[in-house]
Amino acid sequence: MDFLISSAYQIEGGWDADGKGPSIWDNFTHTPGNIKNDETGDIACDSYNKADEDLYLLRALRVNSYRFSLSWPRIFPDGRNRSINTYGVNYYNRLIDGLLAQNITPMVTLFHWDLPQALQDIGGWLNPEMVELFDSYADFCFHTFGDRVKFWITFNEPIAISSLGYDLAVFPPNYKDDPGYALYKVTHIILKAHARAYHTYDQKYRATQKGVVSLSLNMDWVEPEPLNDPRNVEAADRYLQFMGGWFAHPIFKNGDYPDAMKWKVGNRSELQKLPSSRLPVFTEEEKEYIRGTADVFCLNYYTAKLIKHKTTKLRPFSYEDDQEKVLENDSSWPTSAIDNMRAVPWGLRRLLNWIKEEYGNPPIYITENGVGLKSKSEVDDTSKIFFYKTHIDEVLKAYNLDGVNLKGYVAWSFLDSFEWLNGYEARFGLHQVDFEKPSRPRTPRTSAIYYSEIIRQNGIPFHQGDSLSLFHLLASRTS
Ligand code: BGC
Repeated sequence: MDFLISSAYQIEGGWDADGKGPSIWDNFTHTPGNIKNDETGDIACDSYNKADEDLYLLRALRVNSYRFSLSWPRIFPDGRNRSINTYGVNYYNRLIDGLLAQNITPMVTLFHWDLPQALQDIGGWLNPEMVELFDSYADFCFHTFGDRVKFWITFNEPIAISSLGYDLAVFPPNYKDDPGYALYKVTHIILKAHARAYHTYDQKYRATQKGVVSLSLNMDWVEPEPLNDPRNVEAADRYLQFMGGWFAHPIFKNGDYPDAMKWKVGNRSELQKLPSSRLPVFTEEEKEYIRGTADVFCLNYYTAKLIKHKTTKLRPFSYEDDQEKVLENDSSWPTSAIDNMRAVPWGLRRLLNWIKEEYGNPPIYITENGVGLKSKSEVDDTSKIFFYKTHIDEVLKAYNLDGVNLKGYVAWSFLDSFEWLNGYEARFGLHQVDFEKPSRPRTPRTSAIYYSEIIRQNGIPFHQGDSLSLFHLLASRTS
């Protein structure tokens, strides 16, 4: 199954339209200096007003599914279900109905980072009340859209919330007050909120709606360098545990954090002479509640790095230091995107195999994979085609040769969109969007045509001039 994806804040615009409440990203981008060129998602691709055009483009691509996110403050302007905004609800109803009318399956993310500001005002993800509040939002969405939506993702990349929001503090809410603690507390609450929503679905909706629920985790592949030092191999495993296992181990294994994390954070906390580990502890009851709360494994993959072990000094407290590793780029790998990310297709195959081994061969959906180019005008985007071709090829190897239980692949992204701290600089879209024109015209890139060919042939198309396609032609003539 080939899908396409977007997220609410990155494409919708209409930031205060029809009674929508402000999100933490609205306020953050409205403060000068936070985003490259002070760009905002106020209008973005204007998808709030251009749903029909988006639907038309999706249909032209012949995707079977479209992953998008709901904006919590568009539905509940103050974050709570006493403030239902029917305009927002209707927008999503129209979008879902429009997709289904074209045989495109909606895959819906409940939370892609745009928290209602009113909930940040009560402490955001540090406040344990968020478990209840997220559940009541999720419950409303299952109830309202679940007759038609059968694939739910509770959180997109929760690590971005805890690590970028509460440790590196480059994303809102830029929380810097409790380094080395806050991010672990936030993840603890997010895991409970995810589990709570999963159980709500199980208890109230699964029997009639028959959908699946999961969360999307982003992981990089890391290659030990040099490979023959076992401490580097251990550092690589630790990295994967800190990045993906932090969420996946409790959910897909035993309800608890990975041993590598418990050991590292615990040990360092002891050396720091703290009374207990900075990594919070789940009760047995909580472990039982969290274990098994995902029906499929959803992975977002963008890049790979080289990794070495290191022993870090004890202060300042930080997530980075807790991992005791050094990450490097291999300069021979092509730079693919913004922020010096490297395109490493074989890393995806290795990562899929790691997930297969680690979590007992779960059904896997790749819920994001893509590349951001810096050139805005490039419609003939050969390098993006190369990225997709090489990555999908590795995915097919994982599926056909390694027995990875792969169920779907989602390309990031449908349109050029607001790329968080990078504003509109990085162009991930299969469609170019002209952000200088008020009507935000969309133009399909060559990669969009290529992707639709992949969908049509359910695999990588042969190039016209390929000797292989010539071979097929000859074979068909002689048979
Ligand atoms: C995020 C997207 C983002 C993409 C490219 C992913 O980690 O989920 O929102 O646009 O990365 O940077």
